[in-house]
Amino acid sequence: MEYALDRFVREAHTVIAETGLVAGHLIELVTPKPNIPADLAFPTFRAAKEAGIAPPQLAQRIVEKAHAPPGSLIGSIVATGPFVNFSLDAVHLAAAVLEEIERLGTRYGSDDQGAGKTIVIDYSSPNVAKTMHVGHIRSTIIGQSLYHIFDFLGYRVIGDNHLGDWGKQFGMNIAAIVRWGKPEGDDEDAIAAIDKLYAQYSALVKEDVALREEAARWTKRLEQNDPEALARREWIAELQARAAQPNHDDEARAWSLKLEQGDPLARDLWQWMVDLTLKANQRNYNRLGVRFDYALGESFYSPMLEGLIQEAIEKGVAYRDEDGAVVVDELQPGLPTFLLQRSDSGTLYHTRDLACIVYREQEFHPVKIIYVVDARQELHFR
Ligand code: ARG
Repeated sequence: MEYALDRFVREAHTVIAETGLVAGHLIELVTPKPNIPADLAFPTFRAAKEAGIAPPQLAQRIVEKAHAPPGSLIGSIVATGPFVNFSLDAVHLAAAVLEEIERLGTRYGSDDQGAGKTIVIDYSSPNVAKTMHVGHIRSTIIGQSLYHIFDFLGYRVIGDNHLGDWGKQFGMNIAAIVRWGKPEGDDEDAIAAIDKLYAQYSALVKEDVALREEAARWTKRLEQNDPEALARREWIAELQARAAQPNHDDEARAWSLKLEQGDPLARDLWQWMVDLTLKANQRNYNRLGVRFDYALGESFYSPMLEGLIQEAIEKGVAYRDEDGAVVVDELQPGLPTFLLQRSDSGTLYHTRDLACIVYREQEFHPVKIIYVVDARQELHFR
């Protein structure tokens, strides 16, 4: 689609070419610096070098031979040092723009530059069993705006709500619900209640971690024959026994593995949390006029992870360490080592994001995938 300003650029190009002084591939037009009273500039440096003359001299010659055709959008052509500066004819510009607005109506500003191309936009993407927060509203609004803009530019746009509906945190949620019971209701309050149980449970996990750390500290002091430790032998034995008990972290981890393996109770509770969250979020989306083509959450990719991990190992991108974890070492200088799979066989957020990229490439063949996400995930996406 050619708008008035595109036509202005094309006309300036033609005017320069028609002087016969500059080869087409050397005509490069730029936006003048703000203090220059012109709308488009041709810096003659490269062309002058080619012609073996000084740039201001070439600029001067071009201006002498140049003439804008009648009815053109070019108001004036002047040489300023090494530059040929073009200014718009304000009257012709106004008429051309008004004509376009009248002709195109609400399609004014649209374009066909995206024809035949697909862009995937990953936006909103809140987490299940958590109330949406202001960061998600930002991603939701910016994402939906980008969706409309690319659509207007002629792209096929695929909007995907990449729900955070999988991972270890659901082990914690399920463990907490099993321990304290399922919250009542089916609205945002129920989600807030689940969130609270989660916080309670993770406080217990923190206590367990502290206990294990303390036991390890005293064990070490005992080994070093520290007198205070020797004096508290019995107390330390008791501490060690308590630390060795299966704890809340183990329990949550077990539930998260059960969920991955399809345990019916784990699945039921998970589905209940997913439905609850989707329903509450949908109300927000309706109010905001936000819609998605897909809401393929992280769980959608879980059947693909085993194959992905296998492929990464086969291609030598990753390896399995002695504990059974699948490790990717520094892919580029400055990128930390990361896991594709934990030693307990659980997968991670980025494992699922990798599968998601593979899926989007195969399914949609996009020229671009845009993630509208909090800046704190910068390292994750690198
Ligand atoms: N669920 C994540 C969050 O709430 C955002 C997901 C962004 N998209 C992605 N493909 N990782 O922060």
